[in-house]
Amino acid sequence: MEKKRIILAVSGASGAPLAEVCLKELKKIPEYETHLVISRGGEETILHETDLSMEEFTGLADVCYDCKNIGASIASGTFRTEGMIVVPCSMKTVAGIANGYSDNLLLRAADVTIKEKRRLILVTRETPLSQIHLRNMEYLSGVQNVTILPPVISYYSRPKSLEDVNFHLACKILDAAGIFIPGFKRWESNDNA
Ligand SMILES: Cc1cc2nc3c(=O)[nH]c(=O)nc-3n(C[C@H](O)[C@H](O)[C@H](O)COP(=O)(O)O)c2cc1C
Repeated sequence: MEKKRIILAVSGASGAPLAEVCLKELKKIPEYETHLVISRGGEETILHETDLSMEEFTGLADVCYDCKNIGASIASGTFRTEGMIVVPCSMKTVAGIANGYSDNLLLRAADVTIKEKRRLILVTRETPLSQIHLRNMEYLSGVQNVTILPPVISYYSRPKSLEDVNFHLACKILDAAGIFIPGFKRWESNDNA
């Protein structure tokens, strides 16, 4: 059976552990094949924020690309994918995507995802947000199939630890990409009570 390819990109915003959890959850689903690209900034945040070496982190994916290799397969629309998740997504990467400024493989793959009208999830992270950040995100939110998904804690899931928070957010991110993770605590109303 041909696997479903999903591009997972890590840029230099805070939140590298979220990418780690997403990759670990995707690894448990045999029908998906993960294609990983990490920006220069992403390499730095992975080393700052996770307990993994670069080798261990990239080993979580099925395929890993050099971000400088703009000739890699994910740089072309002819390479079929289910879509792309940028987790975490820095404001620099948001600016690059919003302006079609594809000077590395991560940005080119996002540009391709948009032009091919495939799903693109941007886990944008910065605080506070400037008018420039908001303008770029507002613009992207109007682009077909783009979801702006800041990693905001859901208190209703009653997290007991940072692991709980990261797992809930990773499930939410993957859910937006149409990938359903067992154990994801969805909101349950008492409508029928
Ligand atoms: C530890 C660390 C945390 C950072 N957190 C953020 C952040 O949350 N959001 C952001 O937009 N940039 C953040 N930055 C700055 C970006 O890494 C920087 O702007 C970089 O050039 C982004 O490039 P990239 O998007 O190509 O990775 C952080 C940098 C470091 C070293």
